[in-house]
Amino acid sequence: MARPKIALIGAGQIGGTLAHLVALKELGDVILFDIADGTPQGKALDIAESGPAEGFDANLKGTTDYADIAGADVCIVTAGVPRKPGMSRDDLLGINLKVMKAVGEGIKANAPEAFVICITNPLDAMVWALREFSGLSHEKVCGMAGVLDSARFRHFLADEFDVSMKDVTAFVLGGHGDTMVPLTRYSTVAGIPLPDLVKMGWTSQEKLDAIVQRTRDGGAEIVGLLGNGSAYYAPATSAIQMAESYLKDQKRVLPCAAYVDGAYGLDGFYVGVPTVIGKGGIERVVAIELAKDEQAMFDKSVDAVKGLVEACKGIDETLA
Ligand code: APR
Repeated sequence: MARPKIALIGAGQIGGTLAHLVALKELGDVILFDIADGTPQGKALDIAESGPAEGFDANLKGTTDYADIAGADVCIVTAGVPRKPGMSRDDLLGINLKVMKAVGEGIKANAPEAFVICITNPLDAMVWALREFSGLSHEKVCGMAGVLDSARFRHFLADEFDVSMKDVTAFVLGGHGDTMVPLTRYSTVAGIPLPDLVKMGWTSQEKLDAIVQRTRDGGAEIVGLLGNGSAYYAPATSAIQMAESYLKDQKRVLPCAAYVDGAYGLDGFYVGVPTVIGKGGIERVVAIELAKDEQAMFDKSVDAVKGLVEACKGIDETLA
């Protein structure tokens, strides 16, 4: 049986890390696409040359030609520009919207059967635009944010409690940005919800609030430290988890930016929610009852994303 074909659109920091992970995990063959001639070819060759020492079987090819992504099973999109210190994800809107148009048209023409995972920021608005430009069905286009946000939350919690992150689960909702909604009552250590752990004296409410805020600011913290780009190891790893769930029909329950039509009071809108990812793409949106304060935070987050979607429509009239 042929190996799955995984097209990585954008061969920058995240794209290169994705290619390496796909090869190491033997998820399939890689097409690394970028407009900067030389970069995708160089990274593909470099990673291929790590194969003999690592012992993986995967073909890697770098390209600047969309025809090479033909028939891809999965496309992971990181094309665009990342943040610099002092910038918000929203500051990237105008420039990355143009990139989404080119990428969406490239996927539409060459890989219309693919499961598409967008990573480019501002995430929720870019996923929406990419879906519009590509014309693919909604369940085949999603965005990576929640897996990363919950991984950051889990890391901080495991650190605070001095327990394995394997036993920490986290639940985040909403847009990938300052308004994201980490749900503490659905986040646990070995099934014990965080509010109970506060009662048990494992941490204080103040410390927990600080961890929630650090999670919201997790991307900016890395941008500030790096000084010349944004996070790439954890974003790439998070997207690979989603791609693997699709390719192996694992039906993992993963939070991601998905099209929500009917749940959470939404009427056809992309935002971060828990989903089931299997061979059908986004097979289900997991709808939970939100408490009043949670719903208010979620609505605020949705409003922030709506503002960005409206801004996209103002920039590109074909989206209006
Ligand atoms: N088509 C294909 N590739 C493009 C295009 C385009 N139209 N425009 C830019 N690129 C490429 C760049 O040449 C570069 O190699 O996208 C790549 C982006 O890589 P980096 O600048 O290293 O950015 P990275 O850290 O990988 O982040 C990419 O993901 O998390 C988000 O905010 C982040 O939007 C950013 C994206």
